[in-house]
Amino acid sequence: MTPDEPKEDGKLGLKSRMKPGLDRAKAVAMKMKPPKPKFPDEPPPGPTRPSFWRSPLRGPWLTSFLGSALLPLIIICAVTGFLSHAAYNPSLGDNSFFPDGPVDFNFYFFSWPTAPPFLYAVTQGLHVISGVIAIPILFAKLWSVMPKLFEWPPLKSASHFFERISLALLVGGSLFVFFTGVLNTQVYYPWPFSFVPAHYYAAFIFIAALTLHVSLKIPTIRKAIREKGIVKPLGDDLKHTIPEPYVEGSTAALEPDKPTISRRAMLATVGAASVGVGVMMAGQVVGGPFRRLALLAPHGTQLNHGPNGFQINKTAEAVGITADETGAGWRLRLAGGEMVKLTRDDLLAMPQHTYDLPIACVEGWSTTQSWSGVRLSDLAERAGAPGASEVLVESLQTGGSFSSATLSSGQISNDKSLLALKVNGVDLSLDHGYPARVIVPAAPGVHCTKWVNSMKFQAA
Ligand code: HEM
Repeated sequence: MTPDEPKEDGKLGLKSRMKPGLDRAKAVAMKMKPPKPKFPDEPPPGPTRPSFWRSPLRGPWLTSFLGSALLPLIIICAVTGFLSHAAYNPSLGDNSFFPDGPVDFNFYFFSWPTAPPFLYAVTQGLHVISGVIAIPILFAKLWSVMPKLFEWPPLKSASHFFERISLALLVGGSLFVFFTGVLNTQVYYPWPFSFVPAHYYAAFIFIAALTLHVSLKIPTIRKAIREKGIVKPLGDDLKHTIPEPYVEGSTAALEPDKPTISRRAMLATVGAASVGVGVMMAGQVVGGPFRRLALLAPHGTQLNHGPNGFQINKTAEAVGITADETGAGWRLRLAGGEMVKLTRDDLLAMPQHTYDLPIACVEGWSTTQSWSGVRLSDLAERAGAPGASEVLVESLQTGGSFSSATLSSGQISNDKSLLALKVNGVDLSLDHGYPARVIVPAAPGVHCTKWVNSMKFQAA
């Protein structure tokens, strides 16, 4: 055998696979190909072995049932989440899907409205309620598919590799979105990144992976329903709970244990957990007597007394606002056609208006109070920018993502949009934004800037 001849190598089997005429370069290239990862046929002991997973409840029907319960909740959560993005960027044109991206995907075709005034309280309330209700179901769903996460061999082919990546994005994306969302409702940010963009972009990854996942699982769901019905297994008590048949690659157990709980009892437990956390979250959204149920919400049960005794997310002390800055020396700086400086007495001398308006926080709580102050449209006129197209409102608070907010022309021109000086008939407390704060119907609470320092109107 010459060195150029392919080796009669039993392992590589090159000679038998080479066609006559295959040139030397090809042979060398073939020899240099990195070896495919090889896994032993026999899975190592532990969760990679099908016999490890013994729950008699697992199987395609249970997973399909849990997935079908999860899907509508995720749709509500996703739609209201993307509406929240529009509310954060209220001017049409500013609410692009990827504001900082190379391409402007602007699918929003509306400016965020100002009516009905409780709009953001409803959309954000639905967002957090559907989100927390989904969590026990998500955990049950992940439990039901656990054997598939330890599938052996971990890598079979290129298409299997991409499927695993899409599952990693699905599971990782869902856990990230739900985990950051829950911690946000607790006003707890133990991470170095900014919550809003991280939660928003992760939601895109999660929703894209979920759309792919559900499309690929339609045949499994249809088969499970055809064989077992949509709800028929819920009629089975413990005695009649039989394991789903094992088929290679499914989640059903190869060697199931004897059931100790029926499927309907297991699903009822998950449902009760969902309803429980949902009611607790709803308590802070609905308010009134239901607020007492908001046991999981840090601001949900704040029931201080007096006209200023409602929820505060950030106190003046927490953001470094001092009584000196807000005392007699405070001036509201208006910019538009001209620069104007107004004292609080100047503002009180302008026409005052009172409206009952909800303030709705991104964390989910909302509360309706009676606010009094000057219309934003009157201030635009005073600044020499009647019918202004936009206003940048800046707080005395320095730093922080929401120390300023941009409001749209629709928000400025709404009669109920106020620079509030009083709440429930008394001066705003320092924690509620004294000497003046913005209140705009249907706007997220973070856009109702407290301790207003300046308002820069854009002429129409
Ligand atoms: C947050 C959402 C979800 C996550 C994280 C998730 C995760 C998973 C994972 C990791 C698997 C195992 C891998 C596989 O079989 O390909 C799986 C299987 C499956 N999922 Fe999902 N899933 C989600 C939502 C859904 C939804 C909404 C449905 C139905 C509408 C669904 C239906 C199924 C079905 C039928 C299976 C196959 C079960 C079997 O073969 O026994 N999933 N899911």
